[in-house]
Amino acid sequence: MGARLARPFFGGNWKMNHGPNAARAFVEAFSGLYAARDDRTVVFFPPAISLTEFLHAAQGRPDLRLGVQDVYWEREGAFTGSISAPMAKEAGAAFVLAGHSERRHVFGDSDEDVARKVKAIVAEELVPVLCVGERLEERERGDVETVVRRQVELGLGPLEREAIGKTVIAYEPVWAIGTGRTARPEDASAVHSLIRGLLVDRVGADVARDIPIIYGGSVKSGNIDELLAAPEVDGVLVGGASLKPAEFARICSAGPR
Ligand code: PGA
Repeated sequence: MGARLARPFFGGNWKMNHGPNAARAFVEAFSGLYAARDDRTVVFFPPAISLTEFLHAAQGRPDLRLGVQDVYWEREGAFTGSISAPMAKEAGAAFVLAGHSERRHVFGDSDEDVARKVKAIVAEELVPVLCVGERLEERERGDVETVVRRQVELGLGPLEREAIGKTVIAYEPVWAIGTGRTARPEDASAVHSLIRGLLVDRVGADVARDIPIIYGGSVKSGNIDELLAAPEVDGVLVGGASLKPAEFARICSAGPR
């Protein structure tokens, strides 16, 4: 960790898709379609069980960075089914998603759980990608600001200024995830500006400026240009459209030249 992440930031969250064999096939195809560039950051979040195979297949492509989708906050022990931040690091991950909406709403991760995970991730000098976003009923009630503010503030918890400067924040409205319904660029911008403001209050403008705030929710090659052109959108976190090499290569090639 250390240097500021090049922007735009493109994250591919494979969720529970692509085991080791499919991961290898993906990397082989994707490497032929997307050449390394230093004007952007590309990070894959495969299932943890596919990490090693991904790394093998991506030898010679250090630009394709790796993360895991979740960790438990303890380092080791009797926690059946979980992996820890030190294990993710040992396996080659540099990034970890924390508080993805499926973790919050399918598996019941609370804001306090997310904060413990973020702390454990930072302790290993991995980059946490803190995911926040409102549900449809919260948007309809006019509660977007309250929800996003709470998730950002509790998710970052008592982290120090320097550690906050090394995080990534992903705004992913729950109603846009996997639904084909993308937020309008101006709606994404409005929430990203709110998040930037929260970060400025917390760590000051000079540090806050360098924290990538990325958008997620039904991003695809057909809407990437308008999203990246929106003010305060520093990149994207892509689920479904990151599973196909050609489609994700198109997405990762978008933005400024
Ligand atoms: P989607 O998922 O692109 O399939 O909507 C995004 C995410 O959950 O990160």
